[in-house]
Amino acid sequence: MIQANNISHFYGHEQILYDISLEIKEKEFIFLSGESGSGKSTLLSILSTLLHPSEGELFLEQTALQEIKNIDYFRQSKIGFVFQFHYLINYLSVYENIALAALKEKKKNINTLLEELGIKELASRYPNEISGGQRQRVALARALVNEPRLLFADEPTGSLDSKNSTIVYELLARAAAWGTTVIVASHDRQLENYATKTIRMKDGKIL
Ligand SMILES: Nc1ncnc2c1ncn2[C@@H]1O[C@H](COP(=O)(O)OP(=O)(O)OP(=O)(O)O)[C@@H](O)[C@H]1O
Ligand SMILES: [Mg+2]
Repeated sequence: MIQANNISHFYGHEQILYDISLEIKEKEFIFLSGESGSGKSTLLSILSTLLHPSEGELFLEQTALQEIKNIDYFRQSKIGFVFQFHYLINYLSVYENIALAALKEKKKNINTLLEELGIKELASRYPNEISGGQRQRVALARALVNEPRLLFADEPTGSLDSKNSTIVYELLARAAAWGTTVIVASHDRQLENYATKTIRMKDGKIL
């Protein structure tokens, strides 16, 4: 599903990632752990095609990144993203934020996801009218709406209490069981109970 070979990354002259190689298979639920500044978000951005690595190669579904024909369509149809700082559009309602990302034939998933995430009654509210944890769940619904093959989430439960974190992890585990490969960067050790594999990072390297 994802194959990374000898990936290194620099921001300016500063090296952030060192020679990272990994393989992630279909339906795996990967917990990317490591202390603050260890490079989790940077690695996640590279694996999810959003950041081009300084060195190394990335293959997604056996295709080299640079050979993917229509990268915009590839991202929209195959990849879901939940960012550390979720970027909802303030001028659109909760429902509209999700609908904007949804492929036409996937719009039917919106209400089910809102219900499963316990935010259905917020559908017509705007992002600045709901709590941080509720926004995070909207971002997760938006990431799952197209039933992506790959889901990347960076601290998806950063502002959730443990009850709502559990709801999110169970949903992610279910998405993995349905066939989505899930990769989550987080500080929350609870994820070890849900993930099929934990990858630990330290100082830009995989331990
Ligand atoms: N755009 C950038 N320009 C320069 N340095 C950056 C940039 N983004 C991140 N860094 C640096 O790269 C290192 C790794 O950052 P990264 O965000 O990947 O860590 P992280 O493991 O996700 O941390 P956290 O757990 O706090 O989210 C840090 O030292 C950070 O300061
Ligand atoms: Mg981070």
